[in-house]
Amino acid sequence: MKVLVVGGGGREHALAWKLSQSKRIQKVYVAPGNGGTARDPNLFDVPITDVKALREWAQQEKIELTVVGPEAPLAAGVVDEFRAHGMRIFGPTKAAAQLESSKAFSKAFMHRHGIPTAIYETFTDPALAHAYIDKMGVPIVVKADGLAAGKGVVVAMTAPEAHEAIDFMLLENSLGVVHNAGADGATVPRVVIEEFLLGEEASFIVLCDGKNVVALATSQDHKRLLDHDQGPNTGGMGAYSPAPVVTAQVHARAMREVIMPTIKGMEKDGIPYTGFLYAGLMIDEKGHPKTLEFNCRMGDPETQPIMMRLKSDLVEVMLAATSEKLAAFELEWDRRTALGVVMAAAGYPMNPRKGDVITGLPKDDQDAMVFHAGTTAKDGQTLSSGGRVLCVTVLADSVKQAQQKAYEIAKGIHFEGQQYRRDIGFRAIKS
Ligand code: AMP
Ligand code: GLY
Repeated sequence: MKVLVVGGGGREHALAWKLSQSKRIQKVYVAPGNGGTARDPNLFDVPITDVKALREWAQQEKIELTVVGPEAPLAAGVVDEFRAHGMRIFGPTKAAAQLESSKAFSKAFMHRHGIPTAIYETFTDPALAHAYIDKMGVPIVVKADGLAAGKGVVVAMTAPEAHEAIDFMLLENSLGVVHNAGADGATVPRVVIEEFLLGEEASFIVLCDGKNVVALATSQDHKRLLDHDQGPNTGGMGAYSPAPVVTAQVHARAMREVIMPTIKGMEKDGIPYTGFLYAGLMIDEKGHPKTLEFNCRMGDPETQPIMMRLKSDLVEVMLAATSEKLAAFELEWDRRTALGVVMAAAGYPMNPRKGDVITGLPKDDQDAMVFHAGTTAKDGQTLSSGGRVLCVTVLADSVKQAQQKAYEIAKGIHFEGQQYRRDIGFRAIKS
């Protein structure tokens, strides 16, 4: 089979790497790919990002399965476009992708279907937003209503921080958020302001075929830039799988209270959900999960450790998921822990430095992979070209061993200004 992966980040490198190991594979294409997919002799980059042009290319090339990585092409309707031409593609439609692309949509959806989440209000008027913050007090959370690559959320511990967030989200729009259209079609900056939740976070990702659901291995991300969860939110600085905080009971609860009501609710609302569904959960002391957000895709960097643990053939999984055959499907996982450390560029997340030569990249290994994200291949060299540059991902018998091994590999890699957290996995390591 010829398979296409849409995207060019670490998540897509990991998906393409895993797909390419299937016996059913003739060729795996990645559009547009990155410096890592370019280096891999089993992967073929396609320099197309426009949704319609990509569909035309895929049709010509007789691509039999397309898997979409990032949210942007989903929100742009890549699934609708491929399906309209009878092509097999795994992901949610543009309408279903609103679960991620609009915080206002997803909060209203959760409210309507009784899915546990923080209490909230939506605002376009800065004066009303400021007044709400004064009324509710801090800590409080301010979220831009639109896609912001994980950077549109401010967890404000003080009132000035919360007010400032309102000003830059509603007045200055300095985040580069792609704003959603309101009922009248106009794109007005909008924010969701919500209750601050306490607990431990986990990434709960499932596959949906429209009706049936299969859970992937659990994982935990590290959203803050700096050690000990300090600094600004990022797209994710490292992840590991499994996440011990998701016990069997928490897992059952998450499926019963969050995932199944979401799938059923979408079906009831006339927008059946197909694709990866990622619930970002906050799990309180009693093991009760609340939904922080939905993503309509795999997580990045969660995908990297999850793919390293997946033993099942990903092509078979994707075929079942695109033909409503997930009901009887069971996934097989490596019992070991996988852990990935993101190496980011200087200046990330606000203003990443680009164009530096990356040296010391090790050879690919089934138990230790350096997945690429913001890299490009040029004249035999690999250059940094984005905020999150690499994700060093390893499999080992314990979180501690995986952590040690990942940092050993990271030490051998160099690019100017590189930054990475030194504590990925700390919550799962009992000292
Ligand atoms: P989101 O993109 O909505 O997942 O938010 C990004 C990050 O902000 C989350 O991973 C949490 O760490 C934090 N966060 C978001 N919403 C809340 C909340 N209601 N209470 C506490 N922390 C939150
Ligand atoms: N790592 C978080 C995300 O992919 O949204």
